Amino acid sequence: MKILNSSFTLPNGTILQNRIAKSALSENMGTKKHAPSKELINAYRTWAQGNPGLLITGNVMVDYTAIGEPRNVVVEDDRDMALLKEWADTVKNTDTHLWPQINHPGRQAFSKINKDVVAPSAIPVKINGMKSMFKIPRALVEEEILDIINRFGNTAKVFKDAGFTGAQIHGAHGYLVSQFLSPLSNTRNDKWGGSLENRARFAIEVYRNIRKKVGPEFPVGIKINSADFQRGGFTEEESLEVLQLLDQEGMDLLEISGGSYEAPAMMGQVKKQSTIDREVYFMDYIRKARKITTKPLMLTGGFRTVELMENALADNQLDIIGLGRPFCVNPHVADDIFIRGLKKLETPTPLTGIKAIDKVGGLDVIWYAKQIKLIGQGKEPDLNFSGLKALRQNAWLMFQKAFAKN
Ligand SMILES: Cc1cc2nc3c(=O)[nH]c(=O)nc-3n(C[C@H](O)[C@H](O)[C@H](O)COP(=O)(O)O)c2cc1C
Repeated sequence: MKILNSSFTLPNGTILQNRIAKSALSENMGTKKHAPSKELINAYRTWAQGNPGLLITGNVMVDYTAIGEPRNVVVEDDRDMALLKEWADTVKNTDTHLWPQINHPGRQAFSKINKDVVAPSAIPVKINGMKSMFKIPRALVEEEILDIINRFGNTAKVFKDAGFTGAQIHGAHGYLVSQFLSPLSNTRNDKWGGSLENRARFAIEVYRNIRKKVGPEFPVGIKINSADFQRGGFTEEESLEVLQLLDQEGMDLLEISGGSYEAPAMMGQVKKQSTIDREVYFMDYIRKARKITTKPLMLTGGFRTVELMENALADNQLDIIGLGRPFCVNPHVADDIFIRGLKKLETPTPLTGIKAIDKVGGLDVIWYAKQIKLIGQGKEPDLNFSGLKALRQNAWLMFQKAFAKN
C-alpha cells in the first residue's frame, strides 16, 4: 500500500496525513435546541482515534428555521461555542483534520418540522408515495438569497473560531446549493437562474462569502453532484462546466457525488449500466473531471476494496478517497487498513422486511445513522440491528420535533 497511506498537500499548504476521508454523514444527533450533543462529540473522538486524513461532519444547517432532519446541528452564531470547541478538540493531538459540512436544505425540508420552506423556485420535491411530506416551497426573493449566502460565511467563521481546520459547502444531493444548479428546481429568470452561469452563481457567491470571512489560509471545499440523474436535470456536461467555473476560485478540495432525495444516486440506488459492475459510483465522471480542473479531487460512493482505492490513486484519477458507510460500521477504518491489513470493507444493506419500504431503499441513511449513535454512546456498531427498529426510532424523533413547542 503506497499512495493511500501517503500524505497529500492541499493548494493552500494544508497537509492531510493520508488519502482517506470520512465524507459527511448526517448524524441526526444534535440536542433539541440543535447544539452538538456530547454523544455526537464522542463519535468524533472515536473517529479521530482511527487516524483518517480528514473527517467531514454531517451537514450542519445555517438557519434554525430551515432544517433537514429533526436533530440537525445548526450554527448561526457563537451561542454553542463551548460545545463547538469541545467538538474541534476531538482531533487535538492527532494529525486528522476536521471540517464541518455547511448546508441549507431549501425544499428538501420535511413539512412537519419546518414552518416556512424556501427554494429557488416554488417547485416541490416529488417522490412517489411521499408527496405529503414536502410542501410547495416559497421562491426566495433576492434579499433572502443574499441573507443565506451571508449565513454560510458566518457559520464557517464560527467553526473556524472554534478550532475546526477547514470547511465544506454542501453543494450536492438536492439541497439548496444543488437546487440552484438544477434546471428542474430552479426556473428563475433573474440573475440566479436560467443560464448555467446564473444557476452556479449561488454556489460561487457562497464560496466567496466564506472565503472573505475565513481568510486565505483556511481550506474550503465543496461537494457537488456529477449529475442529478433525472431527466431534464443538472447533467454531467453541466456539472463539468461548473467545475471549470469553480476552478477559477480558490477552492481547496472538490468532492464528487451525485443524486438527491428524488434520485438517490449517492447511495448507489441509481446507477448507469456502465457503472453497475463497478464498485465505485462516479468513476467515469472523475476521469473527465481530472482533465478539466487543477483542483484536488475527492470521490465518494461505493469504494469498498483497498485495491481499487489504491489503483484509482495510482492512475492519478483522484487525490482523496471518500468513505461514508464504512465509517459507521468500522470507526477506525484507516488504521484498520494501514495497521491491521484490512482489505475489504463490509457494509450491509439493512432491510425492514416490509416490501414497500425495502423496495424504495433509503433505509440506509437511518440504519447507518443508528450505528453512529452507538459509536457516540461508546458502544460497538451492531450489524444485526433491526432495520425496522431503526426506522421506528427515526419516526419518533420526527414526531417529537413536529410537536415540540419551539
Ligand atoms: C447515515 C448517512 C448520512 C449521510 N449524510 C450526508 C450528509 O449530511 N451530507 C452529505 O453530503 N452526504 C451524506 N451522506 C452521503 C455520504 O456522504 C456518501 O456520499 C454516501 O454514503 C456514499 O458513500 P459510501 O458508499 O462510502 O457510503 C450520508 C450517508 C449516510 C449513510
